[in-house]
Amino acid sequence: MRQFRVATDIRYGHDSLSSLRQLAGQRVLIVTDSFMTRTKVMELVLRELGQAQVTVFDQVSPNPDVDTVVAGLERYAAAQPDAIVALGGGSPIDAAKAIHSIALRQGADLRSGFIVIPTTSGSGSEGTSYAVISDHASQSKIPLTSDDMIPNVAILDPEAVRTAPPKLTADSGMDAVSHAIEAYVAVGHSDFSDAFAEKALQLLCVNLPVAFENPDNLQARERVHNAACMAGLAFENAGLGIVHSISHSIGGVFPMAHGRLNSMILPHVIEFNAGALGFGPGALTPVGRRYAHLGLMVDVKATTPRGRVLGLIEDCRKLAARLKMPVRLSDAGIAKDEFLRAVPKLAHAALNDRCTVGNPVPVDVHDLEAILMKIA
Ligand SMILES: NC(=O)c1ccc[n+]([C@@H]2O[C@H](COP(=O)([O-])OP(=O)(O)OC[C@H]3O[C@@H](n4cnc5c(N)ncnc54)[C@H](O)[C@@H]3O)[C@@H](O)[C@H]2O)c1
Ligand SMILES: [Fe+2]
Repeated sequence: MRQFRVATDIRYGHDSLSSLRQLAGQRVLIVTDSFMTRTKVMELVLRELGQAQVTVFDQVSPNPDVDTVVAGLERYAAAQPDAIVALGGGSPIDAAKAIHSIALRQGADLRSGFIVIPTTSGSGSEGTSYAVISDHASQSKIPLTSDDMIPNVAILDPEAVRTAPPKLTADSGMDAVSHAIEAYVAVGHSDFSDAFAEKALQLLCVNLPVAFENPDNLQARERVHNAACMAGLAFENAGLGIVHSISHSIGGVFPMAHGRLNSMILPHVIEFNAGALGFGPGALTPVGRRYAHLGLMVDVKATTPRGRVLGLIEDCRKLAARLKMPVRLSDAGIAKDEFLRAVPKLAHAALNDRCTVGNPVPVDVHDLEAILMKIA
């Protein structure tokens, strides 16, 4: 027996923030970051929570660490809320997930649940059981997973992402693109996850450049926001692969936006997994054929399966270029010699990352080193 699970109640579209009114009369802990507390979205959220008793924990920094979670738990203990509301990108959402999960294990009575309002369209964290917490001691990002980290409600209101500047739209959008593509080929993929991954990638290819170039285009924002959530549901059920393993390992040592790293790594991983550059027409592996099918889904104009894989790789590169993404780490300010010295350690960390088992092609440390060298 296999299972495909969508455990989160998804409220989406214009005015979906109004569903926060269901928390009237409750004690609510908002977990967010110091920037979001000063935005119009926070104003809208507080207006909708007008009848609730609200405490705000706004000390989440990008790529939250163990100390952030401990500080959030202290605020939780002081406020004794009935509900936790996470407001922000993947960082506040992941911090809130860890706080929620630990509080439940300590016997908390969060009877009004865990509600997540993503303000970036990327991590898909609003519908997944994953959280990524940084551990500075081991210079690594630790992906955690637990059923009690799955939000009860996700509110996908395009107003919440409207203020995201183009760079953030690009970074988080390329994270969603990599979720869709990795989930589509991951060992755990199924007809159900394929449906979410395909649709997510189709929506992203069309709407992400529009949202990047026209931040106030709420229609494009909404489609990108929905797509990011769908890509999250795809990987929640299918798993991910070595784009994420490598991204986690680099991100633990060289701080950079997760989606920006994924964007640089993704074309090289497709090449590696598909063997697309290694052999002639008609010789595609089953994994190569899946990438070819995905190419067809996003309208790659090629007449052979191999051409479709190459077209998919080219489309990823073109999309990244349109979003003004760097191609290599050295373009993004990371010194090449310093990075090359770190490659053996990064390759080992990537090999041991939990996403590696989901990759459709087995990898060893030398394969990972070779991919890492390509983005130096
Ligand atoms: N749990 C998962 O399944 C999962 C998946 C992918 C990534 N992640 C994690 O998510 C984190 C990255 O999250 P992210 O890329 O969404 O960004 P983020 O939460 O780290 O936020 C980045 C910056 O953007 C700002 N910001 C957020 N929303 C904004 C808005 N609407 N307008 C203006 N500024 C805004 C924030 O204040 C912050 O300064 C990483 O820690 C990554 O490891 C988790
Ligand atoms: Fe990701």
